[in-house]
Amino acid sequence: MDKHEVAFNDLIAQDLKIEPRDWMPEKYRKNLIRQVSQHAHSEIIGMQPEGNWLLRAPSLRAKQVLLAKIQDEAGHGLYLYSVAETLGISRQELVQQLHEGKAKYSSIFNYPTLTWADMGAVGWLVDGAAIVNQVSLQRTSYGPYARSMVRICKEESFHQRQGFEIMVQMAKGTPEQKEMAQDALNRFWEPSLMMFGPHDADSAHSSQSMKWKIKRESNDYLRQKFIDRTVPQIEFLGLTVPDANCKWNEETGHYDHSPFNWDEFWNVVEGNGPCNAERLEHHKKAQSDNAWVREAAYAYAQKTDISAVA
Ligand code: 3HC
Repeated sequence: MDKHEVAFNDLIAQDLKIEPRDWMPEKYRKNLIRQVSQHAHSEIIGMQPEGNWLLRAPSLRAKQVLLAKIQDEAGHGLYLYSVAETLGISRQELVQQLHEGKAKYSSIFNYPTLTWADMGAVGWLVDGAAIVNQVSLQRTSYGPYARSMVRICKEESFHQRQGFEIMVQMAKGTPEQKEMAQDALNRFWEPSLMMFGPHDADSAHSSQSMKWKIKRESNDYLRQKFIDRTVPQIEFLGLTVPDANCKWNEETGHYDHSPFNWDEFWNVVEGNGPCNAERLEHHKKAQSDNAWVREAAYAYAQKTDISAVA
């Protein structure tokens, strides 16, 4: 083993961070680009389902809060694209991979947001699941990725709380509002659990990602952590968990649950979900409609690039 690999393994073993200038195995770099780019794409595509309700928010305050959340997501995406760029790939390449279907984004964003209660379910469940996953990623071995998670997690907490506030208003509102809240929970419960990825036994990347401490806890561990903290919230809302087998298991100290519908999961991941085509088309149109903004920014950066002048 050459000295670079020894030094790399040593940093990982000591729980120290790998920085952009450090030597790293090419497969480590590629794995990180894969995961970080999908994380960034998820943040940006994830703005679409919520953007769908921006002009229909039920009050000015609701609109302000939703707008603030959506703007945060854009910032998270830019943060994570910048992390990916430290690994030697350009923003343009990342976007091209997304448009060519070579890069994924989280399957959860391929479901439609049909009612205002969905804005609650998305903030509460989707951002709630993202927090469980991202708090763990604050300890990922790649320095820029770990540091980006610290700020992102702080903002996700606001997202989760704004979603839960909507769910409380709906669940404690009129019978029709409570029904809308239950319907949103029914449609987003299992897709949110799928955000944690396939079972550990079926996870292509987990074992290597755990060895390199890219992933600090397993898909199933984090999924169970999310289920255990969310079921009591569902009970507080007076709603029903959309899984008759979801019961507290005194022996394991966790909630049991039904088997997941992995056929649906892979069907959505492979591009056949309710909104996959719409999400990509919207992203492509936004990219071409706003090309002039990027061109102007690049031109300005060149004109005012002091380092080039010095
Ligand atoms: N949607 C789409 N693809 C998924 C997926 C999902 N929910 N879960 C897993 N996959 C894909 C993986 O990308 C991998 O495919 P690939 O080889 O083409 O990349 C394949 O399924 C096998 O899964 P693995 O478990 O082996 O993959 P990972 O080790 O990468 O684990 C993960 C999956 C837990 C999602 C991990 O990639 C991760 O932690 N990613 C960072 C967090 C993230 O991307 N979250 C997405 C939501 S972001 C968000 O919600 C923002 C919030 O503000 C709303």
